[in-house]
Amino acid sequence: MTINYEQARAKLRAHGQEHLLQYYDELTPQQQELLLAQIEETDFGVVDSLKHKEMLLQRGEITPLRAMELPEIRAEEEKFRAIGLESIRAGKVGAVLLAGGMGTRLGSDDPKGMYNIGLTKDMYIFERLICNLMDVVREAGVWVPLFIMTSDKNKEATENFLREHAFFGYDQEHVWFFKQEMAPASDFDGKIYMEEKWKISTSPNGNGGWYVSMKREGLLDVVHERGIEWLNTFAVDNVLQRIADPVFVGATIDRKCSVGAKVVRKNAPDEKVGAICLEDGRPSIVEYYDMTQELMDAKDEKGDPAYGFGVILNYLFRESDLKIMLEKKLPLHVVEKKIPYINQNLEHIKPEAPNGYKFEGLVLDMIHELGSCLPFEVVRNREFAPIKNKTGVDSVESARQLLRENGVEL
Ligand code: UTP
Repeated sequence: MTINYEQARAKLRAHGQEHLLQYYDELTPQQQELLLAQIEETDFGVVDSLKHKEMLLQRGEITPLRAMELPEIRAEEEKFRAIGLESIRAGKVGAVLLAGGMGTRLGSDDPKGMYNIGLTKDMYIFERLICNLMDVVREAGVWVPLFIMTSDKNKEATENFLREHAFFGYDQEHVWFFKQEMAPASDFDGKIYMEEKWKISTSPNGNGGWYVSMKREGLLDVVHERGIEWLNTFAVDNVLQRIADPVFVGATIDRKCSVGAKVVRKNAPDEKVGAICLEDGRPSIVEYYDMTQELMDAKDEKGDPAYGFGVILNYLFRESDLKIMLEKKLPLHVVEKKIPYINQNLEHIKPEAPNGYKFEGLVLDMIHELGSCLPFEVVRNREFAPIKNKTGVDSVESARQLLRENGVEL
């Protein structure tokens, strides 16, 4: 039984969002039911975070966190690889693909993983990622359990696509899907948009909710039943990344850290990647827009940039240390995005430029909740080819170039 009209009105009034009921009398009973149900399940409190936007920007004391750099990794590579492979073979390592984002910058209506980056043949982003994971499957001789996060917006398309392509050769027995939550999206004044007269505009609530969503969908039971101890969480858009990389797994285990973070040497102090650091003594990430000149200029004892390593959204979490996420709420990031909506004339508008805010919890904030983090350097041109845009920086074009450099035929 969903809430009734009066209850819905009261809930909206508390957050100044009563306009969401403005078409209620014109709706069919079925549409009314849909709208009331959506109002019931939506957390309108997220929009209140606009009021404390400044507070969200406040940071603790930032100090450097030393990364394990390439020479150190190379010196112990074989040891790390052996530890990592042993853990993977024992079924203790799972992979979590974060594929719930909207990929608005790429500008395709399909899920980003369905994007075809091939030139002379088909080469889908999902296919590329599975190819990369298969390298480890072959080396270890076991399937790595793969959990795929989608959202309301792309669940069906993603699942159908992967099924149609027979998971690009991955064993379906070792693949699970789960859905992340949605959050309402507002205009710049904090008024929530409507997508239809009976539907509130929502968008995926960021990539930081993956662990809570896995719990909600019962997948932590699978994790525990199978004895999975480590979860390698990775983004859908880096087509060069190594997934469940044995050396990375081994190094994180060997150094007894709660989380490992793959990092690349930044190519400029102001590059748009988050820099790994300590914040009030705990591992953290300074987003590129929070990098002050002072942080950009700071040097370590060797004279290298003190905040010179950027995260690439490839983390290895010790699962037992993530329990804290089930009790804690991650801070919300207010992000300017293009939000489709209906205007006063009931026309469907697909804006060309950002027209409001989405509210997102980010995986990088999970790092700060954990006691210890190993930043693990990878060779940039071999493991970092993110596809955010169609052309230019971090684009289909730049990723193709990097794939070619790494011997991948397109
Ligand atoms: P991005 O920060 O690139 O966001 O996501 P996005 O929504 O995909 O793309 P834009 O900004 O609209 O162009 C980084 C990773 O986090 C996932 C994405 O799928 C990608 O793998 N993600 C992002 C989610 O899984 N859920 C979200 O709500 C947001």
